[in-house]
Amino acid sequence: MAALFQPFTLKDVTLRNRIAVPPMCQYSATDGLVNEWHVANYTGMARGGAGLVIVEATAVSPEGRITPGCTGIWNDQLADAFAPIVRGIKANGAVPGIQIAHAGRKASANRPWEGDDHIASDDPRSWQTIAPSALPFGANLPKVPEAMTLDDIARVKSDFVAAAKRALAVGFEWLELHFAHGYLAQSFFSEHANQRTDAYGGSFENRCRFLLETLAAVREVWPENLPLTIRFGVIEFDGRDEQTLNESIELTRQFKAAGMDMMSVSMGFDTPKANIPWAPAFMGPIAKRVRDEAGVPVSSAWGFGEPHIAEKAVQDGQLDLVMVGKAHLANPHWTYQAARELKIDKPSWTLPAPYAHWLERY
Ligand SMILES: Cc1cc2nc3c(=O)[nH]c(=O)nc-3n(C[C@H](O)[C@H](O)[C@H](O)COP(=O)(O)O)c2cc1C
Repeated sequence: MAALFQPFTLKDVTLRNRIAVPPMCQYSATDGLVNEWHVANYTGMARGGAGLVIVEATAVSPEGRITPGCTGIWNDQLADAFAPIVRGIKANGAVPGIQIAHAGRKASANRPWEGDDHIASDDPRSWQTIAPSALPFGANLPKVPEAMTLDDIARVKSDFVAAAKRALAVGFEWLELHFAHGYLAQSFFSEHANQRTDAYGGSFENRCRFLLETLAAVREVWPENLPLTIRFGVIEFDGRDEQTLNESIELTRQFKAAGMDMMSVSMGFDTPKANIPWAPAFMGPIAKRVRDEAGVPVSSAWGFGEPHIAEKAVQDGQLDLVMVGKAHLANPHWTYQAARELKIDKPSWTLPAPYAHWLERY
C-alpha cells in the first residue's frame, strides 16, 4: 500500500489518507460572508477523496482580511454560514479544517485578478492596515501600516480566541493558525517587518512573543483532543536563511511545548526581495529538518501535486501530510486519480458509490 494512502491520526482525528487540501483563498465572499461558491468548492474537494480540507484564510476581524472578498469569522452570523461547508466536507468523508488569519500590513488589497496590489487609499473600499511597526511591505503593497499599540495587540489576540471558539461551535475539527506568508503574526517574527523596541520586538524572544501568546490563548479554548496546527514561514530566502531556519526550529519547539500539534512548514514572504528557488517539492528537505530537529509532525505544500512526488515525500519521511493545492483547483478528484496512478488495488473507497460504481467498470 502506498504511504500516501495510509491513514493519519492526530489527537482524536483520523484522516483517511495523507492528502490535504491546503487553505486557498477564493476571494469570493461579501463582507466576510461565505456563499454557495464556497460550499461547492470545498464539498467538491472533499468528494474527490482528500483526507483533510482546510478552508481558506478566514479573517478574525474586518481589517484582517487580505481583500474585500476574503472570508471572515468575526461574528456569529459569519460563523454560522460555514455550517453547510462543514457538513458537506464531512458527508464526503474528509475532515473539515479552517485557517484563521489576520493579514496585517498586507491587508486592504485588490483581488489577485483585479491587480493584486493595495487598494488606493482614496478608494472607499480601502481601510487602514496595522502591523508591528509602521513599515510597508513594498513593491505592490506600499501602504504604510499603523504600528500596533499594546491595546491593539491584546485585541487581535482576543479576536483569534473568539474566532477559534466560533470555528469549534460550527463544527470544524481541525484549526490552523495562519502565522505565515508575511501576514500579521509572521511579521512580528520577522525583522523585515518588526522594529519595535518594546517587549514585542528586538530579541528573538520578543519577536516570538505575539505568536506564542496567541497560540497559548487559543489552545485554552480549542479542545485538547482536536488538532491545533500552525502554518509558519520558517525561511525567507533572503540570504540569511540558516539563521532564520535555526530560529524557526527553536520557535517550533516552543510552539510544541505551548500546545501546537503539527506544523505546516512554509515560507515567510516578509520581503519582496526574496529569491525563492522554485522547483517541484523544494520545501520537502526543509520540512524534514523541522520535523527531525523540532520533533513535530509536519505538512508542506508547493509543488507536490504529482502523485509520485507526493508519495515519495511521505515515503522518505519528509512529510506526514502532503498539501496539494493548485492541482486540486484543476482537478478536485486529484486523490482518486492519484490512487489510480499509484495502483492502489481498490481506489473506489475514495469516491462515493454513485461515482465509483461506474468508474470501476470503465
Ligand atoms: C488561489 C490560492 C489561494 C491561496 N490562499 C492561501 C490561504 O488562504 N492561506 C494559505 O496559507 N495559503 C494560501 N495559498 C497557498 C497554498 O495553500 C499553497 O501553499 C500553494 O498553492 C502551493 O501549493 P501547490 O503547489 O500545491 O499549489 C493559496 C494559494 C492559491 C493558489
